[in-house]
Amino acid sequence: MYDFDRVIDRHGKNSAKWDERFIGKEDQELLPFWVADTDFPAPKAVQRALAECVEHNLYGYSLPPAGCAKAAADWQKRRHSFDARPEWAVFMAGIDSALAASIRAFTDPGDGVLIQTPIYAPFFEIPEKNGRHVLENPMRLVNGHYEPDFEDFEEKAKDAKLWMFCNPQNPTGRCFTKEELLRFAKICLENDVLIVSDEIHADIIFDGLKHIPIASLSPEICARTITCTSASKTFSVAGLAASVIFIADEKMRHQFEEEKDRCCNNTNLLGLVAMEAAYRDGDTYADELVDYLQDNRDFATDFIKQRLPGLRVLKPEATFLLWIDCSGLEIPAEKLEDFFRLAGILLSMGSGYREPTGQFVRLNFGCSRAVLEEGLSRISEAVLKKDF
Ligand SMILES: Cc1ncc(COP(=O)(O)O)c(C=O)c1O
Repeated sequence: MYDFDRVIDRHGKNSAKWDERFIGKEDQELLPFWVADTDFPAPKAVQRALAECVEHNLYGYSLPPAGCAKAAADWQKRRHSFDARPEWAVFMAGIDSALAASIRAFTDPGDGVLIQTPIYAPFFEIPEKNGRHVLENPMRLVNGHYEPDFEDFEEKAKDAKLWMFCNPQNPTGRCFTKEELLRFAKICLENDVLIVSDEIHADIIFDGLKHIPIASLSPEICARTITCTSASKTFSVAGLAASVIFIADEKMRHQFEEEKDRCCNNTNLLGLVAMEAAYRDGDTYADELVDYLQDNRDFATDFIKQRLPGLRVLKPEATFLLWIDCSGLEIPAEKLEDFFRLAGILLSMGSGYREPTGQFVRLNFGCSRAVLEEGLSRISEAVLKKDF
């Protein structure tokens, strides 16, 4: 039904990815594979719901659409077997805001916040900017697969008040297993550590694997978890700034809402209208998107294996992000970004995720195949020319 192959020019449309133009050598515009949104148009149902709002042309102070919390909770039930209730929902402008509100509502300056590294930068930046003490639990890279270090996690949990969890994980593409989740949760319960679970990438899972919301494991775990969800990655609506946070425990929910009020973190009408439509009518789109992205992932990993022997790609189980080890190119870490810029593409550098070697990059493959192929070919040409 959806044609994800169609290349749509996003220039001049206020896209962070395409309009912050970066110019490489010989005035060539760099192809962007950094910011984590897709280049695909949103589902028709989203367009229709927004068009109805625009047709009415009144955007005054508004209430969340009556069916929005239910649509979001039903999506969780239908897609992820998580019995989330509409009354648990708190709407926020985005997941980053929810991470910040959680830190501020449930911890005090100096408290320990546990995270896995490498990780999406706000996981360490938000606690640090709020004067909290970040406890890093580095994941172990075993035979090309990132695995949790539970011994270290257990040790650090003793000093932590809150664990900020990213599942599926950005940037490694891990979709954590039930056994792993149970082990994490047990440690958190034993050490009275609150769980904030960022599940923004939950809908994009490959190879028939299943995303398991950690709160769905048991009522006891659910009562200690803040589950952060959003339609933004799956349905290409990140710019509409809306997310839904499920908090089962009433006292915790009020605490969180008080912090939201302190920051006046209001959502906007269009964001919630789009969210409701996406969650109510977006199943086919999500299914076709995952199929397309899985093919993109396989295309990119095969291309890299066959034509870029200096790169080692970690096949993601989830997300539209490829995490690539460039150490085989033997380029000093501080020159890696320049190498890709000279090749004509813009990636996210692994050092921004607290990856210690500085030899990793993240490539967003949420684009049409033709754009992906062009980007990979540019890297291949640069490697052949030994353009470094
Ligand atoms: C893991 C993760 N959390 C949160 C966000 C940002 O979410 P939002 O735009 O809703 O603040 C991103 C965006 O890349 C992300 O990858």
